[in-house]
Amino acid sequence: MVTAAVLAGGSGTRMGAEVPKQFLEINGKSLLLRSIEAFVRNQNVDNIIVAVGDAFFEYTKQLIEAKVSSEKEIQVIVGGKTRSDTLFNVLEFMNKKGMSENSIVLTHDAVRPFITDRIINDNIAAAEKYSACNTVIPATDTILVSSDGQFIDSVPPRSTVYHAQTPQSFNAKRLYELCKGLPDEVFASLTDGCSVFTVCNERVYLVRGEEYNIKITYPEDIKRAENIAVQYFDNK
Ligand code: CTP
Repeated sequence: MVTAAVLAGGSGTRMGAEVPKQFLEINGKSLLLRSIEAFVRNQNVDNIIVAVGDAFFEYTKQLIEAKVSSEKEIQVIVGGKTRSDTLFNVLEFMNKKGMSENSIVLTHDAVRPFITDRIINDNIAAAEKYSACNTVIPATDTILVSSDGQFIDSVPPRSTVYHAQTPQSFNAKRLYELCKGLPDEVFASLTDGCSVFTVCNERVYLVRGEEYNIKITYPEDIKRAENIAVQYFDNK
């Protein structure tokens, strides 16, 4: 069973819009619906869970009912205070429904609406083979490490650093077990499932992302997203 979990429980403070940015429209369609529809279209995804803030639970259910035509089960659940709490709520929900040893979960930021079948399929294959993977692109800028924000600690060779995107995909049972095994303060310090695997010394495979698989964070990202939507997605 392959489940896509669309994480849409954030508040979008940096965007500063009237509603959380996942509900903003790009070329006539919201980021949230674009992300959900990518998983609806993909032949290898069996069902979809959408995690949203409490205040948007009913609205999201109605939005999906009105706008998404899908044979697949799409369930809306309430997310948590942080992204990792939202992820944990997804895993608890999946566990209650019944997880098998082979259940795969693709965890995806709702605000990263430009995912492709190729990225989704590569994630599924990697999660099946390695239990955990992250979608990444190689860094083009030099990345510096500074722990105090004033002076450089180190400069990792550029060929060893990547920008993390989503989906991040996992053997759901393994991720759930690792999350439950972490002390609360360690879990609270992590933002995503790949960090959970990494702090537990488990390997995370790298899946190739795309430059245009951007995350919408600031108002200036909207224009770029509109260009990407028109250029690559909406006129096909
Ligand atoms: N997310 C979530 N639950 C949270 C926080 C974030 O599901 N409690 C999701 C967001 O909806 C988004 C993704 O995680 O799809 C990345 O969130 P990010 O942009 O980092 O945070 P936001 O809270 O959305 O925005 P901001 O940090 O600007 O407030």
